[in-house]
Amino acid sequence: MCGIVGFVSRSTPAVGPLVNGLRRLEYRGYDSAGVALEGTAGIKVYKQTGKVAELDKLLKSALKTEAESGEYAVGIAHTRWATHGLPTRANAHPHVADDGRLALVHNGIIENYAALRAGLEKRSIKFISQTDTEVLAHLIAAFDKGDFLAAVSQALKQVEGTYGIASISARHPGEMIVARKGSPLVIGLGEGETVVASDVSAIVARTRQVVYLKDGDIARITPEGVQIYSLDNAPVSRDVQQVDWDLGAIEKGGFEHFMLKEIHEQPDALRNTIRGRIDRQGATAILAGLNLSPRDLAAIRRLVVIGCGTSLHAGMVGKYLFESLADLPTSPEQAAEFRYSNPIVGPDDWAVALSQSGETADTLAAVRESIRKGALVSGLCNVVGSTIAREAGRGVYLHAGPEISVASTKAFTAQVTAMLLMALKMGRTRRLSHEEGVRIASEIERIPDLVADVIREEDEIARIAAKYAHADDMFFIGRGILYPAALEGALKIKEIAYVHAEGYQAAELKHGPIALLSAQTPVVALLADIPGKEKTVGNVQECRARQAPVVGVATKGDDDAAAQVDDVIFVPRTIPEISPIVSVVALQLFAYHVARLRGCEIDQPRNLAKSVTVE
Ligand code: M6R
Repeated sequence: MCGIVGFVSRSTPAVGPLVNGLRRLEYRGYDSAGVALEGTAGIKVYKQTGKVAELDKLLKSALKTEAESGEYAVGIAHTRWATHGLPTRANAHPHVADDGRLALVHNGIIENYAALRAGLEKRSIKFISQTDTEVLAHLIAAFDKGDFLAAVSQALKQVEGTYGIASISARHPGEMIVARKGSPLVIGLGEGETVVASDVSAIVARTRQVVYLKDGDIARITPEGVQIYSLDNAPVSRDVQQVDWDLGAIEKGGFEHFMLKEIHEQPDALRNTIRGRIDRQGATAILAGLNLSPRDLAAIRRLVVIGCGTSLHAGMVGKYLFESLADLPTSPEQAAEFRYSNPIVGPDDWAVALSQSGETADTLAAVRESIRKGALVSGLCNVVGSTIAREAGRGVYLHAGPEISVASTKAFTAQVTAMLLMALKMGRTRRLSHEEGVRIASEIERIPDLVADVIREEDEIARIAAKYAHADDMFFIGRGILYPAALEGALKIKEIAYVHAEGYQAAELKHGPIALLSAQTPVVALLADIPGKEKTVGNVQECRARQAPVVGVATKGDDDAAAQVDDVIFVPRTIPEISPIVSVVALQLFAYHVARLRGCEIDQPRNLAKSVTVE
């Protein structure tokens, strides 16, 4: 969603770091971009609809000489994903107040903006945009009596909703005020310069020393560093942390798209998820971050797995893992439904929140609700230091490395792998025998190689994708542990190839959707070797009887299944618990090649954002 970058230095021109930072945030999804620069001539604002490249062109023609851009060593920048008002230049951030002397960028939503705006309009303040953000710019200007930080604090106390903000003012040269509530902000501490961003990927090119702000923090940023306070002006101390990955991790490294790179990274990513976490002797998993003793685990009566989108699909796989390996009743919950349903959770329940970004607004709210209700809460996040990881207080990091492509790939396979480790650990405190534990643990160790085997099939998958790339409607079917994999296959192809796709439990087709099948509606059937596979093969026959062409994803060597479909993608033989991982990798490649052939913008699909920080 929206992205923020801020830069404060004594002498380095701000424009380069700001535009480069915005480029690093492009993957999050946006529809317009803008920059405000502060220098001896006051504040200058440049905004553009469309891509950051357009904004860069505008800046290059406006600041023709180095001397011109050198005048501005302080600045804020933003990529906007429209919520209030169309994606126009007027609605793009930064927004200004105080006759152009104050500029503000904002992520999040100000819920009481209409009432605040009406109040300001009564005081003859003129608005030029339809956004909620502009209200906050005018409020800060109205409260500014000489202390910039105090003015921002006072304005924020009027606001209901969520925000991550950065503001500069010509009345307070050389400083920037930032604050967060419900929308992440991280501060990078460089040599004679300080960088701010909503996402650490916009910072690592300049420094790896970072400070994560917490909700309720407000900070004064200068070239020398940061001073952090509460909204009531009490000084607050936050640890400086070292980012442990480098720029290479967020570059394409020779691949045409981040999505393809991330699909190919999966064997290594999963090795990192598993590394150091198998206890061979005990035939169990070592998950220190959970901080749960065998007694704690044994006392849990029910597991609630919470997430959105791909993370929800991984959570749905978790149901099969925990129920089969640990005899633990498990309910997957869509986070937005969960948070507003007055959920029945309590001290006997373990709520596990799945989130690649660790910032998804609904998942975060579900975590908070579960904590309020006394449940044991854990996060299963990829982004280290993310809000869900911190607020859950315990959990398992995926260690899959940065995921840049909007379409989630390696996070899904890492989430399923991490849950498998959790289910193994849980199972071994309950009914799972040592022998069974050994069997599961050794198969978990094979996951990276199994995934590499699927990736080796890419040419064949691309060939099959070419045969079906023209279709505008597709069905994905599976049952048991492969039912969520079918949902994930449908989601991938919807979001990156813009193909209308439905994911169904295979038996459910007959209860209505089969009416839509024809020679123009390919069906992708998940036929890897799991209990109930023969039933799905039966459902395939029903599809073919309606002339629908069928692509099967089947276990290598399963010639019977292969004989029942028009085209087959083979995945390696493994235990049922790992079948969603190998099947989904095949579906990721299938979706990728369909999207590529349809000429889609794969890494930044229309209307989508990488991290959904509004509800
Ligand atoms: O960061 P999260 O895992 O919490 O994100 C959840 C969803 O927004 C995300 O999985 C989304 O569905 C992806 N675009 C799927 O590819």
